[in-house]
Amino acid sequence: RKGSFDHFMLKEIFEQPESIINTMRGRVNFQNKTVKLGGLSNYISAIRRSRRIVMIACGTSYHSCLATRDLFEELTDIPISVEIASYFLDRRPPLFRDDTCIFVSQSGETMDTIFALKYCIERGAMCVGVVNGVGSAISRQTLCGVHINAGPEIGVASTKAYTSQYITLVMIALSLSEDRLSKQTRRNEIIDGLAKISAQLEEVLKLNDKIQAVAETLVDKPKMLILGRGYQYATALEGALKIKEISYILAEGILTGELKHGPLALVDEDIPIIMVATKDKLFDKIINGIGQVTARSGKPIFIASQNGPALIEGSNKKENGVTETAAADYNGAEKSYVKFEVPETVDCLQGLLNIVILQILGYWLAVKKGYNPDHPRNLAKAVTTE
Ligand code: UD1
Ligand code: BG6
Ligand code: NA
Repeated sequence: RKGSFDHFMLKEIFEQPESIINTMRGRVNFQNKTVKLGGLSNYISAIRRSRRIVMIACGTSYHSCLATRDLFEELTDIPISVEIASYFLDRRPPLFRDDTCIFVSQSGETMDTIFALKYCIERGAMCVGVVNGVGSAISRQTLCGVHINAGPEIGVASTKAYTSQYITLVMIALSLSEDRLSKQTRRNEIIDGLAKISAQLEEVLKLNDKIQAVAETLVDKPKMLILGRGYQYATALEGALKIKEISYILAEGILTGELKHGPLALVDEDIPIIMVATKDKLFDKIINGIGQVTARSGKPIFIASQNGPALIEGSNKKENGVTETAAADYNGAEKSYVKFEVPETVDCLQGLLNIVILQILGYWLAVKKGYNPDHPRNLAKAVTTE
């Protein structure tokens, strides 16, 4: 069932151009630029009237909520909060009948998320599911929802479920704003982006060999920093989770804006640093973050936009989408910086492409260390205890 792949994880990473199409099938009309989610159609106007939307999930599913939170805020103008299910339950926060709660779960069987759902049902909130598991507890117990239709995910480290959850949440945000004339141009831009995303993801997969070669250079490193901001904060967190759960490297996802408030102390010439630096409206701040890191002798590996603006001035050598920039650092020492270039899409969809680099990197780090990425120690695919 793994076909020509050595592991389910790699198979599932490579399935993503297809699984994200399955998620959109029959739902996004690319000609008329409309989105129709069968599972939500009777409830969409009620959700629009809610005072607040609370997204609740664990692990990778939580990261898909973070990845789309900005878009929900932008398109719906409804306050959005994003909650880790166990922390939400620890606090037992106030919740009201005019709140909508969205539960995101690959399995639909995660106990923390199920208990959070029970808590929200008891308080009369409208509960919506975004799950892969048809017939699962969360699918059954939510009032309504959307199946992400990613197909079975076997690898414990979630990959294709993440990209399909992400796209499903984008579709929900698009549906919620369908009545807003002022958002029409933006919605059309996003739907056009969705039309191209599968082919672009296919392009990213072509970097597999190069990512494997870069993994070779990182395999003995005990720790790693992954930096991102704005839409790419979720990419940094999810990338770090992938790397730590299967390669057991202590990878930490950091919001670039927080660097100077502590994590900068970790930066030196040894620690591997991956910076998500694709071009978006925060580009000036990204450049600023790169300066903060290189000024402390840090040597980042970049995930950047194809044909995007320079991140570091120096001489470039390009090979298979990977640019090596030789540049002098702040002490005048010659360094070479690696840059993976991914196709450019709409800002709110860019994370769908960027994360794939880190999924593949995590995979190769695990394999090169002799670990089976499909069965990380101490972890289970679905955690059915609290
Ligand atoms: C449904 C069918 C699909 C069919 C399509 C044709 C199912 C599972 N799906 O897809 O096979 O091709 O109609 O129009 O039979 N739901 C929840 N919670 C969740 C997820 C879903 O309550 O977490 C509910 C939905 O509100 C809906 C039902 O489950 O009532 C099916 O959801 P979904 O599969 O997303 O609906 P469609 O895409 O319309
Ligand atoms: C487990 C898995 O911890 O549950 C993670 O190992 C997953 O990969 C998390 O993200 C949440 O699972 P689910 O099924 O609710 O998305
Ligand atoms: Na249901």
